[in-house]
Amino acid sequence: MIIVKSTREIELMKKAGEVVAKVFEECGKLMKPGVSTYQINAKAEEVITSMGCTGPCKGYYDYPAMTCVSVNDTLIHGIPSHKIILREGDIVSLDVVANYQGYCADATRTFAIGIISERAQRLMEVTKQAFFNGIAQAKPGNHLGDIQSAIQKTVESNGYNVARDFTGHGIGKSMHEDPSIPNFGKEGSGPLLQKGMTLAIEPMVLEGRKDTRILGDGWTVKSRDGKLTCHYENTIVITENGREIITLTEEEKKLYV
Ligand code: MF3
Ligand code: CO
Repeated sequence: MIIVKSTREIELMKKAGEVVAKVFEECGKLMKPGVSTYQINAKAEEVITSMGCTGPCKGYYDYPAMTCVSVNDTLIHGIPSHKIILREGDIVSLDVVANYQGYCADATRTFAIGIISERAQRLMEVTKQAFFNGIAQAKPGNHLGDIQSAIQKTVESNGYNVARDFTGHGIGKSMHEDPSIPNFGKEGSGPLLQKGMTLAIEPMVLEGRKDTRILGDGWTVKSRDGKLTCHYENTIVITENGREIITLTEEEKKLYV
């Protein structure tokens, strides 16, 4: 069942969203060669807790950290580690969930470490574009499948693949609520969108084949072919006439609104 939120609930989710955005601003400064993914996560934890939030990822099925930090061929759920050191040319996704007074926001950014290849740049641009083309369809009266289809078309028309085994999701009191939102689907399919729905839209894109594998740690998801991967995510609220993104940084607000 999709839970429609009240104005008060949405206000709390927006506070959580501001904290997630603050994490991107602070961790963005650390995205340099020589820094470990452990250090990135430690900074994120500091921001989340100092701003009065909890991090629901920590302890979720025993996941050990508040964020996922996923480098290059790691698509999602990279466990922060002292042993994973960022290098020039890497692309690194940071997936952050914050809970403020019982309400969650969830977002992911992929960062470039120093100068990256044109190949990696194009993958990052297409992944972000897939998100924006997807949410252009997010408005009352449209179907969830309209968002999914727009994401899939953007990704595949650029020669990439969407991950099949992982999806976006509703979000609110829990970090995962109904509906599940695959990054593929048919226009006109699925539930009708309605004002007050809150959704985490998150294209997970593979440069090469669509297949993934999970490492022995039970979490880390990599591309099977070892090619690059990318992830971009925001929490959105369906409004009267469209949607509002609630996890943008101050700089992004200037760019996108
Ligand atoms: N933020 C992820 C999502 O989009 C969840 C991370 S899995 C966890 O659903 F184990 F870290 F919680
Ligand atoms: Co999510």
